[in-house]
Amino acid sequence: MKALEGVRILDMTHVQSGPTCTQLLAWFGADVIKVERPGVGDATRGQLRDIPDVDSLYFTMLNHNKRSITLNTKSDKGKEIFSKLIETCDVLAENFAPGALDRMGFSWERIQEINPRIVYASVKGFGPGPYADCKVYENVAQCTGGSASTTGFDDGPPLVTGAQIGDSGTGLNLALGIVTALFQREKTGRGQRVTCAMQDGVLNLCRVKLRDQQRLKHGPLKEYPQYPNGEFGDATPRSGNASGGGQPGWIVKCKGWENDDNAYTYVITQAASFPALAKAMGREEWLEDPEWSTPEARLPKLDQVFDEIEKWTMTKTKFEVMDILNPLNVPCGPILSMKELAEEPALRDTGTVVEVDHPDRGKYLTVGNPIKLSDSPAAVERSPLLGEHTDEIMRDVLGYSAEEIAAAKESGAV
Ligand SMILES: CC(C)(COP(=O)(O)OP(=O)(O)OC[C@H]1O[C@@H](n2cnc3c(N)ncnc32)[C@H](O)[C@@H]1OP(=O)(O)O)[C@@H](O)C(=O)NCCC(=O)NCCS
Repeated sequence: MKALEGVRILDMTHVQSGPTCTQLLAWFGADVIKVERPGVGDATRGQLRDIPDVDSLYFTMLNHNKRSITLNTKSDKGKEIFSKLIETCDVLAENFAPGALDRMGFSWERIQEINPRIVYASVKGFGPGPYADCKVYENVAQCTGGSASTTGFDDGPPLVTGAQIGDSGTGLNLALGIVTALFQREKTGRGQRVTCAMQDGVLNLCRVKLRDQQRLKHGPLKEYPQYPNGEFGDATPRSGNASGGGQPGWIVKCKGWENDDNAYTYVITQAASFPALAKAMGREEWLEDPEWSTPEARLPKLDQVFDEIEKWTMTKTKFEVMDILNPLNVPCGPILSMKELAEEPALRDTGTVVEVDHPDRGKYLTVGNPIKLSDSPAAVERSPLLGEHTDEIMRDVLGYSAEEIAAAKESGAV
């Protein structure tokens, strides 16, 4: 059995933030019914296509284990079918532009009238406030949530990160909100509204930077590369590759960096393992020299410490550095490329990287469920074709006859 077996999700999500949430719930066993506009579907089906007329990887990698029904929720017949879906589902999830569901005639009040047990979960770019009506994509959330202003190097512009913290990050929040609301419903019998703003989600992930904003009042941020020679302004600065915690760390070059963009490693020089690191590098003399032997002595010249570490790492591959430092309890992490991650056998073994077969595109790789439950296995099934399950859902979930289904198709509602 799967953890969420028996839970039915009315999935009105599109693009990335919402679909990542409902995909997770599907992996936990929920029956996820994805509602898509007839003839069009989720816009990502056609975005960044690598094979003509075939659902894009953008879509297939965000919509596994779901069923697809096409439904025009703006037509009269479509509204009737949509109301029946609300009646029968436990959760309605959506991430349309603000107000889209209300404009279709389905306000939270109306949805509760139809099904008081339903959990109505939404992702929006912003919470209530001056920007509540804005449409938002990933990088807008990164920029308005504190990530971009604190990412990059001090002498460069703000940077967005490759990790989709606004979209997939907020999808995680929404999934937690949904299962928590379902848990409460088991006791109260009532559904509730779950709302997650992407700005809030990004700021939550940038918590340590708001910590640093407040620390600034009491003096320079000593673990930042600006200390002691650079300038601090009145806002948390960009800290390059410095660690967000109290342990100094940096990215250094490894053997082969001249020809390989990813021949680098992250090395952390925490006090407890510094002696082992110094010995591994052949710099035992540091341990006796008051100029280098204590964290306080090293702090103002961390750039020199990492320059010396780099001279050593440049003589080893990033994997050799890992092999040497890990047994010494020196935390380090090779910069792994997407190619290396795709080929990593351990990630295949755990189901984190999965090969899936698709009738139109053939085999492709995806990221499986990153959350492992020992009693709820998550097999990854291919994403649905547009409207692949329309008839089956109309018949088995909603109880429509073959004639009624044919009439709904005739009217263009499905
Ligand atoms: C992502 C986003 C910017 C995309 O904007 P968009 O492509 O213009 O799409 P919208 O959400 O505005 O939806 C377009 C329209 O399609 C309509 N539509 C969607 N599914 C439909 C269906 N099955 N039947 C009929 N109409 C449908 C919507 O009701 C909306 O109509 P309206 O403008 O008359 O209200 C926007 O949805 C958004 O800001 N979402 C919230 C934040 C978010 O999740 N962003 C991250 C995305 S990864």
